[in-house]
Amino acid sequence: MRKKVVLITGGSSGLGKYIAESLATKGYRVFAGMRSKKKILLLSKQWRNKSVQPIQLNITSDKDCFDAVEKIVKKEGGIDVLVNNAGYALVGSFENHTSQDFQDILNVNTVGSFRMIKAVFPFMKKRKDGKIINITSLNGVLALPSFAMYCSSKFALEALGLSLKHEVAKYNIHITNLAPGAIQSPDHSQKKEMPHKPAREKFLILKILMPFLTYKKITEKIISIINNSNPPVEVIMGADSLITTSLQRVLPRSVWDKMVSYVWSK
Ligand SMILES: NC(=O)c1ccc[n+]([C@@H]2O[C@H](COP(=O)([O-])OP(=O)(O)OC[C@H]3O[C@@H](n4cnc5c(N)ncnc54)[C@H](OP(=O)(O)O)[C@@H]3O)[C@@H](O)[C@H]2O)c1
Repeated sequence: MRKKVVLITGGSSGLGKYIAESLATKGYRVFAGMRSKKKILLLSKQWRNKSVQPIQLNITSDKDCFDAVEKIVKKEGGIDVLVNNAGYALVGSFENHTSQDFQDILNVNTVGSFRMIKAVFPFMKKRKDGKIINITSLNGVLALPSFAMYCSSKFALEALGLSLKHEVAKYNIHITNLAPGAIQSPDHSQKKEMPHKPAREKFLILKILMPFLTYKKITEKIISIINNSNPPVEVIMGADSLITTSLQRVLPRSVWDKMVSYVWSK
């Protein structure tokens, strides 16, 4: 049977690297996009005998996006699944960030995913088949303090997926926004420094109520989306995402706002 071809952006590290390696062990033909030539060289060696191949891809470049897709299509005949994973967070007071910082994060987290969708779309349309998975975030469905620019970029990515879904459905192309809450990296050295104390450290009960998501859980969800002939357009993952989005839905806005202010002011 033909191996499904998956292209994942931001495959050089973190979640993207884990998903790429896991999908390869599960019988997918994986292309892991990355912008650093050094990492391409390093991972080409590491992945020599695996079904995962690094490919030059800086998602802020139209040319990189189209070249990478064209190369894969030439080699494999098409791309079955695009995972828009590359992205980063900006945390802290907006006073410390410039308009250029804001434009940069939009260029990667939102426009970068748009570039990738534009690049794969003609080939998926021709085949009348394709899946696009956007890794958004809890910060793409809830606007939380200290994350204004990151939230804006992920809300915009959410909106992109929700709107485009209707345009591409007639070509049997499915878009899913996957919004994970906080993820625990298996490599603890990758722990990111935050300018504020995370809510889980202010209220220890949250550590129990809202355990971190794992890379493994997210990868399993991605596989289930790939195997679903009619996947949902929105998947919210993690106890933190599920609890907070449910609370926001049922609480009056004034109560929700007070709660958020209280947690942040602690
Ligand atoms: N970690 C969490 O708790 C969490 C929660 C919810 C959602 N997410 C989302 O999950 C995704 C992966 O996060 P992560 O925690 O794995 O982050 P990460 O370890 O920082 O990895 C991000 C990846 O994106 C790549 N990237 C950044 N800018 C790029 C560009 N211009 N072109 C191509 N690749 C670029 C990075 O490449 P380099 O190696 O070259 O920098 C890296 O491979 C992100 O979209 C993030 O917003 C994360």
